[in-house]
Amino acid sequence: MNRESYLRIASSQKTRTENYAEGVQEYYNLATPGYLGGWGTSFHLPPFHDGQTLAEALVAQERLLAQDGGFHAGMKILDVGCGIGGPAMEVAKHSGAHVTGVNITAMQIEIARVQAERRGMGDRCTFVEGDAMNLSFADNTFDATMSFDALCHVPDRRVAYAEIARVTKPGGVFIGFDWFCGEGLGAEEYDRLIEPVCRTFMLPSLISLSELREHLTAVGFQVDSARSGGEIGDMTPVWDIFDRAAENSLPPGMSDRETFAFEMLCESFVATSKAAREGAFLVGYWKSRLPM
Ligand SMILES: C[S@@+](CC[C@H](N)C(=O)[O-])C[C@H]1O[C@@H](n2cnc3c(N)ncnc32)[C@H](O)[C@@H]1O
Repeated sequence: MNRESYLRIASSQKTRTENYAEGVQEYYNLATPGYLGGWGTSFHLPPFHDGQTLAEALVAQERLLAQDGGFHAGMKILDVGCGIGGPAMEVAKHSGAHVTGVNITAMQIEIARVQAERRGMGDRCTFVEGDAMNLSFADNTFDATMSFDALCHVPDRRVAYAEIARVTKPGGVFIGFDWFCGEGLGAEEYDRLIEPVCRTFMLPSLISLSELREHLTAVGFQVDSARSGGEIGDMTPVWDIFDRAAENSLPPGMSDRETFAFEMLCESFVATSKAAREGAFLVGYWKSRLPM
């Protein structure tokens, strides 16, 4: 996809919604090398605890979710929007469960498979190309479902949550982290603070934690908790990392495409840090379950 086509898709909520599949795939084709360099194999935003490095905070967040989800050996877990597989591999290793990752970006699925083989996790994790809005799995396939910072890319959360409810067994947990806007934002604040985050990260729109509760309940989940990542740990180090990364100068010898990706990432870091520091953007954490 050329730069003009990408920018046209990114330009409005309407175009991002209508073209979400190609938009998000191109976003990750552009951004994955930068993410790998800065974040490693887990592409989510962790709450920090005393003195943790980014790598330690990411692993701790993945282990926390596995523990809170009650994941253990013998379980089959689905990871929706699995990226290049870092969280799936850590959760499988930590809990003993088998994890199937699904991701709309084919290139990331290929990387995830290579990483899993390299780490000796090939028999503990399976990676499948697919869309959260239209999962290819049979009803009641998984004992539980998890997701890290992925469903914000989906244009209609209710459709994705309903798909997750369909493929998760009765009594199964759906637990995850995702990106949200603050409660009761006015149109002016949303446009000024959230729209730049959505445009630069290729997110159709953001919902609030109360909308998350409503949507999960509407498709049959009982919501145990839905809270801000700031209640779990300190999110400020993430915004500090974003601010520092945005100040980096363009490395020499970059192609036009790499330069575009670099500038896009810098713009997204500035927008997200600003929105988070002004209380308009947050990482949220929920735990829900289906009735038996
Ligand atoms: C911020 S990354 C997080 C990746 C991974 N969960 C992690 O924490 O490392 C968001 C991921 O969601 C995937 N994604 C976006 N829209 C999707 C969709 N409709 N269906 C499945 N995966 C999707 C992207 O391709 C990307 O891998």
